[in-house]
Amino acid sequence: MEATTNGILVKAQAVTKVYHTDEVATHALRGVSTEITAGEFLAVVGPSGSGKTTLLNLIGALDAVTEGRLEVMGKDVATMSKRQRADMRLHSLGFVFQAYNLFPVLTAQENVEFVLELQGISERRSERAREALDQLGLLEFADRRPTQMSGGQQQRVAVARAIASRPRLVLADEPSANLDGENARILLDMMHDLNVREGITFIFSTHDPRVIAYARRVITLVDGRIDTDVVKKQDTDVNKE
Ligand SMILES: Nc1ncnc2c1ncn2[C@@H]1O[C@H](COP(=O)(O)OP(=O)(O)OP(=O)(O)O)[C@@H](O)[C@H]1O
Ligand SMILES: [Mg+2]
Repeated sequence: MEATTNGILVKAQAVTKVYHTDEVATHALRGVSTEITAGEFLAVVGPSGSGKTTLLNLIGALDAVTEGRLEVMGKDVATMSKRQRADMRLHSLGFVFQAYNLFPVLTAQENVEFVLELQGISERRSERAREALDQLGLLEFADRRPTQMSGGQQQRVAVARAIASRPRLVLADEPSANLDGENARILLDMMHDLNVREGITFIFSTHDPRVIAYARRVITLVDGRIDTDVVKKQDTDVNKE
C-alpha cells in the first residue's frame, strides 16, 4: 500500500455542497472541515437531511464539491480526471450501501468475484473471494443467490465484496439500516474486526445508537455543519458485552 502524507486519508476544508433542482437550491453541506486518518472507525450521524450521504458521496468521488477543497488520499478530488476518480473508486475505496446492491442472478461467491474482475484482479480471484466471504462468516452461503439469504447475510456479502480487494477506505452509508439488532451487531462486529486486524479504515453513517457505540470517533452533522466531533478515549470493547 502506498503511503499518504501523515496517514491522512481525507482532508476537507470548508466543503460546501449545493444541489440545484427546479430552481430550488438545497445547501446540503455548509462548510465542513475535518481530517480523517488511516485506521479510523468513524461514524457520521445526524438527523435525516443533515448531509451524511452527501458527505460520503463526496469522499467517494461520486459527486463534486460546490466550494471548498476536498483531498482524498492526498489528491484534490476536483482536479482529478474522470478516469482517475474511477480508478480511485475501483482500487482504493470500498462501498457498502443501504440496499446491499448485490447482483440478484449471481451467487455470493460470484458477486465478490465479479467486483474483483472489474478491479482487474485475476490472480487467485476465487480464493480471494472465498477468503473475504470467510472473514464475514459466510462460507456456507457462498453458492447462494441474494434471494436465498437473509438481509443480514446479504449485507455481509456487500461488505465482503467491498473489502475483497483490500481497499484502504470503506464508505458505508447506513449499512445496518435494514437489519434487526442482532444482525446489526454481527455486521458491526465483523466490520470492527476488519478495522482492527486488517487496518481498513471505515467511515459509516447511521441513525442506530447500537451501531454508534462501535465507533471510535463520532461526527455529528446538523443542517450541513459539523455540530460535534467526538473521539472516544478508549476503544470500547463492544465484543465483551
Ligand atoms: N441529488 C440531490 N438533489 C437535490 N437535493 C438533494 C440531493 N441529494 C440530497 N439532497 C438534499 O440535500 C440534503 C442532505 O441530504 P443527504 O442525503 O445528504 O442527508 P442524510 O443526512 O443522508 O439524510 P438521511 O438520514 O435521510 O439519509 C437534504 O435536504 C436532501 O434533500
Ligand atoms: Mg442518507
